[in-house]
Amino acid sequence: MENVQEFIVTAIEKIKAQIGGTALIALSGGVDSSVCAELAHRAIGDRLYPLFIDTGFMRKGEPEQVQASFSHMNLQMIDAGDRFFDAVKGIEDPELKRKAIGETFIRVFEEEARKINADYLIQGTIYPDVLESEKGIKSHHNVGGMPEKMEFKGVVEPLYYLYKDDVREVGRALSLPIALSERMPFPGPGLSVRACGEATREKVIAVRAANAIVEEEVMETLKPWQALAAVIGKGTGQKNGRRVYGWIIAVRIVNSDNAITAEPLDVPYPLLRKIQERITTEIPDAVRVVYDVTPKPPGTIEFE
Ligand code: XMP
Repeated sequence: MENVQEFIVTAIEKIKAQIGGTALIALSGGVDSSVCAELAHRAIGDRLYPLFIDTGFMRKGEPEQVQASFSHMNLQMIDAGDRFFDAVKGIEDPELKRKAIGETFIRVFEEEARKINADYLIQGTIYPDVLESEKGIKSHHNVGGMPEKMEFKGVVEPLYYLYKDDVREVGRALSLPIALSERMPFPGPGLSVRACGEATREKVIAVRAANAIVEEEVMETLKPWQALAAVIGKGTGQKNGRRVYGWIIAVRIVNSDNAITAEPLDVPYPLLRKIQERITTEIPDAVRVVYDVTPKPPGTIEFE
């Protein structure tokens, strides 16, 4: 991106020209959709209907944070957790899971769009999502995971050619709260792709708590590109002198060049032990903690 101010002016002009009627945008709490919503709000004002769909796969405190950050817009909060858990029920395969979530997203959008008669859908798709979906590495929920049948007049993607760092720059230039513009990336399908295999409620509860612990322990001190925890299986352990067959939690902390490649951080061992201690103490069914030392490639940043 050559010039951020120029990008903003052009993006707002384009949105104005593209969207004659109303538009729906789903906020996820991440930087991409937040920047998109701010651009769109400046372009079409109250013709923008921002929507927050609580999929049940959100991080700890996320719905509340989003509500607080977008109080200057007419934000609708939709609790769709039951539908999303139903959609992924019995699905073990990560790609099928992403597709099921993508489809549920669109259906919920469409239902809301029908209620408010929105013509367009605005999405915060960025260039790495497009590249990875094209190469068949992963179906990002907002690209390859999109069902073919759409009921909108069109989809508008103002950040299509931007990389993450550009999006943050735009966010800063738009004076978004730092907590939003500098927030680490979080996948659209949320914690479902960190609850490996079938994303059951109990697995998601454990992984939500583990992600909160990892974020609390490393975001301020190590300032990595991304830090996360995933439930990667079950294993045997013992708690209070009794055998427990519980969650194996993987911790992944990486620095990255625009999410295309990534390097695991050389985390001080005492900090790793502290994370382990908190996870196995605070999460009743967590029995093991492992640290992922795999770069991308051959790994990806998320586990699924
Ligand atoms: P991977 O796991 O492919 O992730 O190395 C690269 C970056 O993208 C994020 N990610 C997603 N973002 N929808 C998104 O908006 C998705 O479906 C998705 N999957 C992964 C991931 O967190 C990392 O920052």
